[in-house]
Amino acid sequence: MNFYQIFRPLIFKLDAEFAHNLAINFLKYFPNLATSCTINKKYKNLQQTLWSLDFKSPVGMAAGFDKNAEAIKALQQFGFGFVEVGTVTPKAQKGNDKPRLFRLQEDRAIINRLGFNNKGAEVFAKNISQNKTLKEIIGINIGKNKDTENAISDYILLLEKFYGSASYITVNISSPNTKNLRDLQKEDQLDLFLSTLILKARELEKLHNKKTPIWLKVAPDLTLEEQKTIAQIALKNKIDALIISNTTISRPQNLKSKNAQEVGGLSGEPLFEKSNEVLKNFYKFTEGQIVLVGVGGIKNAQDAYAKIKCGASLVQIYSGLIYQGFGVVEKINRDLSELVEKDGFKNISQAIGIDLAA
Ligand SMILES: Cc1cc2nc3c(=O)[nH]c(=O)nc-3n(C[C@H](O)[C@H](O)[C@H](O)COP(=O)(O)O)c2cc1C
Repeated sequence: MNFYQIFRPLIFKLDAEFAHNLAINFLKYFPNLATSCTINKKYKNLQQTLWSLDFKSPVGMAAGFDKNAEAIKALQQFGFGFVEVGTVTPKAQKGNDKPRLFRLQEDRAIINRLGFNNKGAEVFAKNISQNKTLKEIIGINIGKNKDTENAISDYILLLEKFYGSASYITVNISSPNTKNLRDLQKEDQLDLFLSTLILKARELEKLHNKKTPIWLKVAPDLTLEEQKTIAQIALKNKIDALIISNTTISRPQNLKSKNAQEVGGLSGEPLFEKSNEVLKNFYKFTEGQIVLVGVGGIKNAQDAYAKIKCGASLVQIYSGLIYQGFGVVEKINRDLSELVEKDGFKNISQAIGIDLAA
């Protein structure tokens, strides 16, 4: 039993959002104490280089945990290959009314309807400049303010602000908790939206003399036809990666927890199969031409490996950390390295999409 498992019953007695804020503050103010027991080994067969970024592990921290880039010093030390911070919006905003974060303990899941609560781009930029080191991969996840009508203006502003400092930028149009946000994924809006963003990104590439990859994060609640269309538009606009997926607004029949019908996005173990199905579809539709990042319900190395075999080059985790603590990252790395070796691969990249190979 590890340190986190001993304290988890106590932590789970606290309100979920209060516990989250406590964790962020602990990681922010005591980064070395928080990571003092961390074993952070390097596994050669897990290393990949994509867009000149050296990923020491394919396992990343998903967006939404460190919304204001306050805890990156600590997060970087848990063994992640990359850490995604945000979602940040141009202006600070409070988000939805509380309570808005719920544990579904029996289902090892979470429902949130936070609504992009964050301290805004100015504070975020300051935190990034104080905490980001050059060698670690930090992705910045951007979104729109609740009251912004012309969504693209917010994304352009954030792209300009963070293009120079981010290792990559994730365009988040898939949170279920900002009204009409997911409509940007629709065919009639997406092409214009992405082509405008990519045009700006090309300008910024020249200005900064640096290419910052642009990732797009999609919802799992898309019809097959919608997935196909998004894949085609992403290919056309040369999006660098697709993150599959955000939380789901669907509710599997078999959820046991009393919080199961709370409104919001469901994450954790019940999302695993659904996000894998969408991942497989995108791998087929993009014919391996776009890097895919698999997210949803990962609790161990087997789950991470399953996503890689479905077509993901990289994976991310969030809810699994709430149930198991950050120590699980090193365990996933170690076990994943063993799985790759057992299958006779020299490097994890050889396993990408093998479940779908004809
Ligand atoms: C409390 C909470 C807040 C989240 N906030 C964000 C967010 O701000 N931006 C985002 O792109 N995804 C957000 N997510 C979604 C996660 O990044 C991830 O896509 C999703 O939780 C599925 O992964 P998991 O099952 O490992 O948690 C949030 C998830 C949770 C649980």
